[in-house]
Amino acid sequence: MSVMVLIGAQWGDEGKGKATDLWGSQVQWVVRYQGGNNAGHTVVLPDGQKFALHLIPSGILSAGTNNVIGNGVVIDPGVLLKELAGLEERGVDTSRLFISADAHLIMPYHVAIDKVTERFLGNSKIGTTGRGIGPAYQDKVARLGVRVQDLLDPSILAQKVEAALHIKNQILVKIYNRKALDPAQIVEEVLAQAEGFKHRIADTRLELAKAAERGDNILLEGSQGTLLDVDHGTYPFVTSSNPTSGGATIGSGLGPTRIDSVVGILKAYTTRVGSGPFPTELEDEWGEYLRQTGGEVGVTTGRLRRCGWFDAVIARYASRVNGITDYFLTKLDVLSSLKEVPVCVAYDVDGVRFDEMPMTQSDIHHAKPIYELLPGWSEDISGARTFEDLPKNAQDYVRRLEVLSGSRISAIGVGPGRDQTIVLHEVFG
Ligand code: GDP
Ligand code: IMO
Ligand code: MG
Repeated sequence: MSVMVLIGAQWGDEGKGKATDLWGSQVQWVVRYQGGNNAGHTVVLPDGQKFALHLIPSGILSAGTNNVIGNGVVIDPGVLLKELAGLEERGVDTSRLFISADAHLIMPYHVAIDKVTERFLGNSKIGTTGRGIGPAYQDKVARLGVRVQDLLDPSILAQKVEAALHIKNQILVKIYNRKALDPAQIVEEVLAQAEGFKHRIADTRLELAKAAERGDNILLEGSQGTLLDVDHGTYPFVTSSNPTSGGATIGSGLGPTRIDSVVGILKAYTTRVGSGPFPTELEDEWGEYLRQTGGEVGVTTGRLRRCGWFDAVIARYASRVNGITDYFLTKLDVLSSLKEVPVCVAYDVDGVRFDEMPMTQSDIHHAKPIYELLPGWSEDISGARTFEDLPKNAQDYVRRLEVLSGSRISAIGVGPGRDQTIVLHEVFG
């Protein structure tokens, strides 16, 4: 048996959906442990069908796999129903989706506050997805949250929504000049929505402990990425949860000693959506080249992703804070036909060389990449299925990244399809 955590090693959108799907048939359980519908995970099935998942674990597309939305996730009930209906319409069996009774709910006031806060921040805005993620986690920590289990007791639900709105309506009306929200109407709406998924509510913490005990394979699927982690990321330009591997134990209820491996998903270059520092960002034709060739448009908001070269300082940092055992290097095919490929090996911060992530926010904002130029390759590699199928320069690029990143590369993506993967080391077994 094996319990694996799969995390994004950069700023999200590294290809976590594809990686989860790849290993989905080898596991009995796939668990989302943090985030919510700020995520957009793309899966392309062998028959070419493309799915975009936001809240539901990517394992839903593997027949027979159990899927869990863990306690660490924040759930928008309307989004959940819509996503379930969309999958069912396309013939996907969703009967094996279970929802933690302790997961928190994103309520309409969280979405409203997310949007007005961003508007008021003006130039300092985070560039959130506007899905109510931050305000929902704020309420969780402030002990004002509404949990999935509250849907089972309408009077408790009403009390909690009233308590939350007691404060929030004042903020909405007096600070943001918005209309007050009616608690009774929200309760009615949410209770009606709950009818569509109540039967899925479970003590997922207990079920996962039993599964681990019997020797099932479990994959804990992170969303977002290491640099968007509220503790380890480029704060304050982060999301409001812990996508790093430590978050997997908190957000699933499986203890740390249960975890056998941590697989980091690492794009062969770098992208970011939203505001915040990004040392290797390219604001020239090369950034546009990567965006076009890599199809770098946000799955959730449709925003164009900011693009830049590979940053080994970040990869080393991700190896360290996540305890990465293996990397899955994705989108190597996007770099084909470049004469030379720059890779950032260190930063120059106001004349001082930093080989590791600077300690302060100001230094990260001032970091300029120090590049090493690696020779490119012109061959189309999308049909490669073994390491030997890759041109020599592509092999050398992978090997150099492995040395610079500090963890072995166990899989390489050469296209969006499940089969467009080169496996160097099996991660389960
Ligand atoms: P996630 O949020 O980490 O799951 O990643 P996204 O789905 O937001 O973005 C990754 C994009 O890259 C998706 O469109 C995937 O289909 C695509 N993709 C994943 N792996 C590869 C790969 O190896 N090569 C190419 N060309 N595309 C890939
Ligand atoms: P996946 O799982 C990329 C970014 C937003 C914003 C910041 C905070 O597909 O990799 P939030 O709405 O979470 O409060 O926004 O985080 N962000 C993502 N960027 N991929 C994601 O998810 C993201 N989820 C949030 O753009 O900068
Ligand atoms: Mg994504």
